[in-house]
Amino acid sequence: MKILGIESSCDETAAAVVEDGRKLLSSVVASQIDIHAAYGGVVPEIASRAHTEAIYGVVESALLQAELTIDDIDAIAVTNAPGLIGALLTGLSFAKGLAFATKKPLIPVHHIRGHVAANYLVHEDLKPPFVSLVVSGGHTSLMRVDDYTKYSLIGHARDDAAGEAFDKCARVLGLPYPGGAAMDRLASLGDKSKYKFTAGSVDGAEYDFSFSGLKTAVINLVHQETTQKGRIIDDEFRADIAASFTSVLVKTITSRLELLMSREGAMDIVLAGGVAANSHLRAAVSETAEKFGAKLFLPPLKLCGDNAAMIAAQGYFEYLAGERGTTDLNAFATKSV
Ligand code: KG4
Ligand code: ZN
Repeated sequence: MKILGIESSCDETAAAVVEDGRKLLSSVVASQIDIHAAYGGVVPEIASRAHTEAIYGVVESALLQAELTIDDIDAIAVTNAPGLIGALLTGLSFAKGLAFATKKPLIPVHHIRGHVAANYLVHEDLKPPFVSLVVSGGHTSLMRVDDYTKYSLIGHARDDAAGEAFDKCARVLGLPYPGGAAMDRLASLGDKSKYKFTAGSVDGAEYDFSFSGLKTAVINLVHQETTQKGRIIDDEFRADIAASFTSVLVKTITSRLELLMSREGAMDIVLAGGVAANSHLRAAVSETAEKFGAKLFLPPLKLCGDNAAMIAAQGYFEYLAGERGTTDLNAFATKSV
């Protein structure tokens, strides 16, 4: 079964074709990063307009790249939650129109489930049950995946997601948006014990995350050092901050995973999301997996960030579970997984 996936929840307009949830036939991603870089973050209204301009060409390119026409497609899967509402509505409206005009089934897909499904495209042996950590610009979620469409949330970010914290720390250090990848490289060069940062914890919710205080601590330190003490931001300063910040953030994430496995035993682990590209996080989760004798599945770097292949992959399993969207299907800025 060939599924056309469409994704537009944030600042990437994407379309892809995937066969039977596992075989990638094409994937096209039009990034808006250059447009938003001037503002240091995503501007929702600009994102919606850019999606509207890009969507037709991106879907056409995905079909061309797969050497297929719309007649060869069996169903259309689309992200309808969570994300920026205007951005989501662009992709959803396009998918609804296309499905209606071609009389093909429409399948709504949850963006976070999509990130997890990116792993099905490269790990043939990956099957639920497993525990998954989705770490991205908008989400930090620890979940139990009992079946392809049976999710339960164990812990999540109460304020800023990990990627948001990376990007804002990068911005105060003068790095271009999105600064996550640059922070990754700098952290490898710095001294992680130079600055003592701590991440928050949530009283009564030991699996939840809070990164907003960590982000603010970095911003305050940079302001104190520069505005008050006259220090110039150079590469050594950036590297030491990146290393100190990353080490705390990564330790916070792995501590939740270790707590869970120490209580409930080792489980297969699946990492996903844009921040899953972070080399320090990948190394630390690998160490955790080794410590507990758990099997770890990591997505390849090109499938960590937002793409539509992951939506088409998850769409297949949603289709098998009977999930269908009708013409009154709506988009939701927030929705539980
Ligand atoms: O999954 P994604 O494309 O979008 C959301 O669903 O949010 O994730 C984008 C996020 C951005 O915050 C970006 O800075 C971050 O992923 N990111 C990284 C790295 N590569 C991308 N963060 C840390 N280290 C990286 N290597
Ligand atoms: Zn995402």
